[in-house]
Amino acid sequence: MNASVLSGKFVVLGVTGSIAVYKVVELARRLTQAGATVQVVMTPGATQFVQPLTFQALTYRPVEVEMFGTFDDRAAGHVAMGQQADVVVIAPATAHTLARLANGFADDLIGTTVLASHAPLIIAPAMETHMWANPATQENVETLRDRGATIVEPESGELASGLSGQGRLASLEAIGAAIEDALATSSALAGKRIVVTAGPTLEPIDPVRVISNRSSGKMGYAIAAAALRAGADVRLISGPVALRPPAGVRVVRIETAAELHDAVLAALPGAHAVVMAAAVADYRPAAPAYQKLKKREQGDDVTLTLVRNPDVLQAIVAKRDQGTLVVGFKAETGDAVAEASRMLREKGLDLVVANDVTAKGSEFGSDTDEVTFVSADGVEALPLLSKREVARRLVAKITERLAI
Ligand SMILES: Cc1cc2nc3c(=O)[nH]c(=O)nc-3n(C[C@H](O)[C@H](O)[C@H](O)COP(=O)(O)O)c2cc1C
Repeated sequence: MNASVLSGKFVVLGVTGSIAVYKVVELARRLTQAGATVQVVMTPGATQFVQPLTFQALTYRPVEVEMFGTFDDRAAGHVAMGQQADVVVIAPATAHTLARLANGFADDLIGTTVLASHAPLIIAPAMETHMWANPATQENVETLRDRGATIVEPESGELASGLSGQGRLASLEAIGAAIEDALATSSALAGKRIVVTAGPTLEPIDPVRVISNRSSGKMGYAIAAAALRAGADVRLISGPVALRPPAGVRVVRIETAAELHDAVLAALPGAHAVVMAAAVADYRPAAPAYQKLKKREQGDDVTLTLVRNPDVLQAIVAKRDQGTLVVGFKAETGDAVAEASRMLREKGLDLVVANDVTAKGSEFGSDTDEVTFVSADGVEALPLLSKREVARRLVAKITERLAI
């Protein structure tokens, strides 16, 4: 875990009665080793699985369990931890605790701590797969998410019950990353507006069929989240993806390249940087059919005529305010860096992120990328990194450029 982010931070770790408690012992240890003060609060249920002493020995602090216990020098112990917290983490979160938190119950220390806290709330549920899938649990999760909590979704796999399915506590890396994200906010981009595009476009062939591409939107969403953490006012223009935008980002949803073009130009006035991570279709069907094309009418062969879509990058460069940075992405199946250098020159961009989508770890939909930043300053090849880390480095680069 990143000591530069965690050092000196007060982390309240709420532990509830799931079989996954034993995994969180290691989380408490890692957070403490990274320099955080970790205050563990356990439900009585959690203590059935692991003794408070285990957490106490690893965090060097007494564990709180009882609301009506003695609180040394803290007159209002049931709210003090929440008010002191830099982040509140509930891991593992049982179905029962999710229900209590979603309804604002204050009958235990975790409930009062969450209610009294303004700190970011991170919840990592763990439970048997049917309990997780139950609409009651899902509605509670949605309620908490709508209120701004970060839910670190459980993973799929073999569960303690012997069944397989979604419900297993997320990896400690995923929970740790969520904690770091919550703590790593800065004001480096305060007062700056960043426009990010993400995902694929859909070009209709007829009312039910489209031409699209394999973009998952993960890179663009990661960039939006990184810019938000850096304090920017973020506008995310997104094609259809199965991702949840980070809370606090303004989202405009588009489908076609033409809609994306219009949305980006509308967001351009006042933007300090535009990051074009969307995979925009270069071509669209010339004349989409108004009715669904039918086999019996079309025969064995169908010929589609495609026409060029507007070049969004060109339009941005032509219409941008002076000083607005424009960042392009070049996903290629060959020499991505050469293509990116050409794109940089020909389109007058400030930076191009080159990505060979045939390279291992850089495929469409993956959570990692091996990219190269290409700019007038030169070529900077990055190792294989998580998209989150690529996004962080790109936002750092943008911040550097905007400071000049
Ligand atoms: C062996 C065992 C394992 C359990 N594991 C889970 C679990 O992983 N997730 C869950 O939501 N509940 C689990 N439960 C049920 C909870 O412990 C129970 O709902 C309890 O009331 C939760 O209360 P708490 O959230 O206050 O700790 C388990 C119960 C037992 C006996």
